[in-house]
Amino acid sequence: SDHSYDYDVLVIGAGPGGYVAAIRAAQLGLNTACAESRETLGGTCLNVGCIPSKAMLHASELFEEAEGGHMATWGLKTTVELDLEAMQAEKRKAVGELTGGIEFLFKKNKVDWKKGHATFQDAHTVKVGDETITAKDIVIATGSSVTPLPGVEVDNAKGKIVDSTGALEFGEVPEHLVVIGGGVIGLELGSVWRRLGAKVTVVEFLDQLLPGMDKDIRKEAGKIFKKQGMQLKLKSKVTGATVKGKKVTVTVEPAAGGDAETIEASHVLVSIGRRPNVDGLGLDAIGLELNSRDQIETDHDFRTTVDGVWAIGDVIPGPMLAHKAEDEGIAVAENIAGETGIVNHAVIPGVVYTMPEFADVGMTEDEAKEAGHTVKVGKFPMMANSRAKANRDTDGFVKVIADAETDRVLGVHIVASLAGTMIAEAAVAMEFGATSEDIAYTCHAHPTHAEALKEAAMAVQGKPIHM
Ligand code: FAD
Ligand code: NAI
Repeated sequence: SDHSYDYDVLVIGAGPGGYVAAIRAAQLGLNTACAESRETLGGTCLNVGCIPSKAMLHASELFEEAEGGHMATWGLKTTVELDLEAMQAEKRKAVGELTGGIEFLFKKNKVDWKKGHATFQDAHTVKVGDETITAKDIVIATGSSVTPLPGVEVDNAKGKIVDSTGALEFGEVPEHLVVIGGGVIGLELGSVWRRLGAKVTVVEFLDQLLPGMDKDIRKEAGKIFKKQGMQLKLKSKVTGATVKGKKVTVTVEPAAGGDAETIEASHVLVSIGRRPNVDGLGLDAIGLELNSRDQIETDHDFRTTVDGVWAIGDVIPGPMLAHKAEDEGIAVAENIAGETGIVNHAVIPGVVYTMPEFADVGMTEDEAKEAGHTVKVGKFPMMANSRAKANRDTDGFVKVIADAETDRVLGVHIVASLAGTMIAEAAVAMEFGATSEDIAYTCHAHPTHAEALKEAAMAVQGKPIHM
């Protein structure tokens, strides 16, 4: 190591991007520190994102299965009582175990945790609290925060108008939750509270939910969430929200403009997207400029335009996903160590963890056509999958998109109870450059939901057996 610096590598931020980069760098023999301003490691994902939301999704799913009659269908009759405090406590336990786990991994790998907010002094010097730290290479992994909506002031402590952090911590089931934004957070957390008994209204600017996903998935999402009892107000925008006592009055206008109406809510969730954390980082001091979306641009190796400064995760362009940040964390550490770290951004799965789940990898049908492909599409409904039928969870379908000439798989889109697990197979297949024929002729265990992917691939080929 270079003795003119305190560390070989300093990582700023200990989310899935930063903590993984720090551990990998240490594993590669680099003397590594990681600065984090939170009290615990793990970033957004472990503290207030992926993990607590999945814990609440799981718990509320159990509640709905018992309370909503799914268990009774199987002859399991019970009366259910909700102890929200106990549910929240169990969630916090899961979060604590996981963030504590990262602390253990830091110790095991000899990564020094520097507690406090980091600010650049120059390209090799960072101030963390009172401490000045120098490093040969510095990785920015500061993540993202909720995008504010003018006129709708988030106050998580008051707990009436909240972002996702506040919506994970409600101390009571909202009477009427208005969700602003029908994207991933809105649908996941909207589902949690709907299952636990809230009336939920989703106000979405566009004409359909889940922008960015395949058109068939988006259409299905609208049907499914409506069937589950969510009120959907599409092509609408919220222009203001005011708290008065226990009530929140929400003003909604047509997206295209027109007469405003008001909705009386008990709680409001702002989930209109997230933006990079770059404030107070001192980027001016190193002359690092942001793009028009306030993101830090990097090259293929995650180098910024400033020598010795690298960036990964939600703070750079691309999907704001934990596994994307993690893979970039490994790659950047390997590149700093002089190895070859690569992330294939064309094959990054995305999953919405509702019931059913919505998952995709690769291109949507429209993207494939725009990219100049002639496409062949194969679809298979979960209704015709024997395991889904046996389990009584037949919502959804699998859609495989292949190039008509080469048969190479360009994208896979799944709506199914286990879509998030099923999409991993599609990602592996695409990473190996599979054709739809490859998937169709791979033996899949019976009876599994995964067989629906094989049958959708057979549908690309011509005909599936079970349809
Ligand atoms: P972050 O996890 O945001 O971590 C950055 C860290 O840097 C933070 O802890 C922050 O405190 C710290 N920091 C920032 N600035 C400084 C500074 N100057 N000095 C010191 N420390 C600093 N993704 C999925 O893939 N799956 C999911 O199921 C999923 N669920 C989500 C649910 C919710 C409610 C939310 C909000 C997000 C979810 N995400 C999910 C997205 C996921 O959390 C992010 O993509 C991921 O955390 C990004 O990792 P990161 O390391 O880039 O940044
Ligand atoms: P999002 O981008 O998924 O959805 C935001 C939605 O709000 C869009 O549908 C958009 O059209 C709509 N919108 C924007 N402005 C609006 C307005 N003024 N009025 C009404 N609607 C408006 O963003 P979201 O849900 O906040 O999530 C942020 C990020 O967190 C996502 O990029 C996602 O990658 C990540 N995340 C991932 C999860 C997962 O992987 N399961 C779970 C939760 C979050």
